[in-house]
Amino acid sequence: MNGIVRADAPGKIILFGEHAVVYGRPTLAVPVMQVAASVEITTQPPNRPTGKPKNRSTGKLNLWLDAPDIGLSAPVEALLQQATPPPLAIAIRSVCQALGVEQPPRLRIRVTSSIPLASGLGSGAAVSVALIRALSAALGQPLPDEQVNALAYEIEKLYHGTPSGIDNTVITYARPVYFVRGQILQTFRVVRPFTLVIGDSGIAAPTRESVGAVRQLWQADPARWEKVFDQVAEIVEAAKNAIESGEVSRLGALMDENQALLQQMTVSSAELDRLVAAAKTAGAQGAKLSGGGRGGNMLALATPETAAAVAAALRQAGARNTIITTIDGGAAR
Ligand code: MEV
Repeated sequence: MNGIVRADAPGKIILFGEHAVVYGRPTLAVPVMQVAASVEITTQPPNRPTGKPKNRSTGKLNLWLDAPDIGLSAPVEALLQQATPPPLAIAIRSVCQALGVEQPPRLRIRVTSSIPLASGLGSGAAVSVALIRALSAALGQPLPDEQVNALAYEIEKLYHGTPSGIDNTVITYARPVYFVRGQILQTFRVVRPFTLVIGDSGIAAPTRESVGAVRQLWQADPARWEKVFDQVAEIVEAAKNAIESGEVSRLGALMDENQALLQQMTVSSAELDRLVAAAKTAGAQGAKLSGGGRGGNMLALATPETAAAVAAALRQAGARNTIITTIDGGAAR
C-alpha cells in the first residue's frame, strides 16, 4: 500500500425494539449521518516514523495506533500486552487474524470519531466498521459488506456479551433496517419524512449491564418476559407500517408504549424519564429511550415547528447535547 486509505462509518439510532431484539424480536433502526467514525491509515516509512513514535519499535505487528479522542498513541503490540488492552487494539488484532496477516507492513492507524461514546449511537460498532474497511483495504484485501458486518459482529461480542447485531448491521449497510437476529437483512421505506429530537442524558449507557439485567429478569420468569417482548414486537410492526404508509403521526403513541415496556425492563432511569417527560411537555408527540438505556440517548417525535422548543426543553431538563434530525428516505440527516 502507498499513501493513505480512509474509511468512514455513520452512527445509528434505534427507533423501536431495543432489548427485545436480543430475544429474536424485530427492531427498527436508522443510520445517523450527522456523526461518523473515521479511520485513516498511512504507511510509515521504515526508518523515519513521523511524529512521536520516532525510533521506537512498533512491535511484530508493525502497527502504530493514534486515537487522539481517547488519548492513545502507541504501538499496537504494546497496547495488547497491557493487563486490559484497549478495545481498539484488540479490534486491530482481530482484523489481522481474520485476514490471515501475521506480519503486516508498517502502518500508522489514526482513529477519530464525532459519535459520543456509550450514548446509544453505536460509537463502538462504527469504529469497528471503519477500522475493518480501512485496514482490510490497506492490507490489500478489501472486504465486501457482508464480511465487514460479520467481523464487526465478532468484535461487538467481545464487548457486549450477547449483542443482537443491530448496531454493526445498520452501520455497515448505512440504510434503515428492519432487523431480526439471524435473519436476512430487510430494509424499510420512509414515505413521508419525520422529525426526531435526540437528547443525550450525558450518562454513559452501560449496555452490557442493562442487557445482563434484562437477561436476569427473563431467566427468572421467561413466560412473563416473552409476553413483554411480544408486545414490543407488535409495536415495531405497527411502527414499520406507519412509516411505510406515511402515517408518521402514529409513531408518537407507539414510542410512549415502547418506553413503558422499557421501564418495566428496568432499563430506563430517572434522568431518561425526566428527558422523556420534558420533551412531551414541550410538544413532542411521543418519546422513549434509545439503545441500551440507563443512560445514553432518548428520542422524541416532533415536527419541524416544535423541534426547536423540544430541544430547548431537553437541554433545560439536563440533556448534555441535542440533535434535531429528519428521517428522510431512511437515514437521519
Ligand atoms: C444496543 O444498541 C441495543 C440493545 O438492544 C442491545 C443489542 O441489540 O445488542 C440494547
